[in-house]
Amino acid sequence: MRAVVLEGVEKSFDGTPACSQINLSINKGEFFTFLGPSGCGKTTLLRLIAGFIAPLSGAVFIDGNDVTNLPPEKRKVGMVFQNYSLFPYLTVSQNIEYGLTIQKKTARERQEIAERYMEMVGLTGFGERKVTELSGGEQQRVALARSLAVEPEVLLLDEPLSNLDARLRDKMRAEIKSLQKRLGITTIFVTHDQTEALTLSDRIAVFNQGRVVQVGTPRQIYDTPHNVFVAGFVGDTNLFRVARSGSTVRLENGMELSVPAGSESGDWLSIRPQNIRISKTPSREPNSFQGQVLERQLNGVSIDYIIELGQTVIRAAELNSFEKEDEFRPGTTVWVTLPEKRLRLLAE
Ligand SMILES: Nc1ncnc2c1ncn2[C@@H]1O[C@H](COP(=O)(O)OP(=O)(O)OP(=O)(O)O)[C@@H](O)[C@H]1O
Ligand SMILES: [Mg+2]
Repeated sequence: MRAVVLEGVEKSFDGTPACSQINLSINKGEFFTFLGPSGCGKTTLLRLIAGFIAPLSGAVFIDGNDVTNLPPEKRKVGMVFQNYSLFPYLTVSQNIEYGLTIQKKTARERQEIAERYMEMVGLTGFGERKVTELSGGEQQRVALARSLAVEPEVLLLDEPLSNLDARLRDKMRAEIKSLQKRLGITTIFVTHDQTEALTLSDRIAVFNQGRVVQVGTPRQIYDTPHNVFVAGFVGDTNLFRVARSGSTVRLENGMELSVPAGSESGDWLSIRPQNIRISKTPSREPNSFQGQVLERQLNGVSIDYIIELGQTVIRAAELNSFEKEDEFRPGTTVWVTLPEKRLRLLAE
């Protein structure tokens, strides 16, 4: 069952397109993420779904009904805005209770619900404070509590974790996900953070310049990006311009690599850093080359190696395990293997 359907949705501001030909179908109960760089139209599309702005053309359906011409309050959606949009003259409790008043809940019910959601977002005891007396992260949590309190059918979250510190962010991320699962709320989550998108989502739509460039599960997006933009935006990758002849590609530095039979066509070769193997001894495997370690960067869980390979540089990554402590210092000669089945040819 479809919860939200967008058909050919278009929006421009002063003649400049912000969303172009958006066709998306979001299932009931799904955790769906809009992922893309700043300015690619994510907030605009959320506002179109919520009804705060109207599309130039195309239609928005919620629960099978065409809501394109309905005002926001008739759409059964809850939204957490990127800038929170709290009522500054009201207290935390009053902000959270706002939508419950419209739902005609009694004062007692409102108070109970507000307390429950304040606890959930870690703001117990903040009820009487004015929202102007809160930090950015606290305001963000009030906004989240306010939108959840009305238990909407569709929840729209515009970067709701961006102002939180790393620990609180992890906690709230887990909280949002478990709540979403428990209540079965269809959720559209906006972020430019790929890790957040990969960990939370059932499916992701990757946006670039107002268009959807790929829709898929986190695994599909990460493992089989459709083009250079998706490969580079979602996760780290090495990209080389190549010329292909049959099952061989030639890099601009003259290096030749064999690619899997049946590879798509494309002028770019992509390989993720963690799929590159490094060894101190020569390798007889295909696609192996001698190189030299230029730099070693510790990232905590992993170690990145920048390796010079025939007038080009490549980034490889290995798990930072105990045995790896002293391996591959800068200056070390190494053999680098690019396993054939990990190579992907991509179009621009
Ligand atoms: N009210 C407006 N008037 C004019 N231009 C606008 C308006 N709202 C958005 N835009 C433009 O539309 C484009 C998309 O903006 P949008 O806010 O949807 O991007 P975004 O993907 O949410 O970015 P961010 O990650 O920075 O929040 C941008 O170029 C922006 O400048
Ligand atoms: Mg935005």
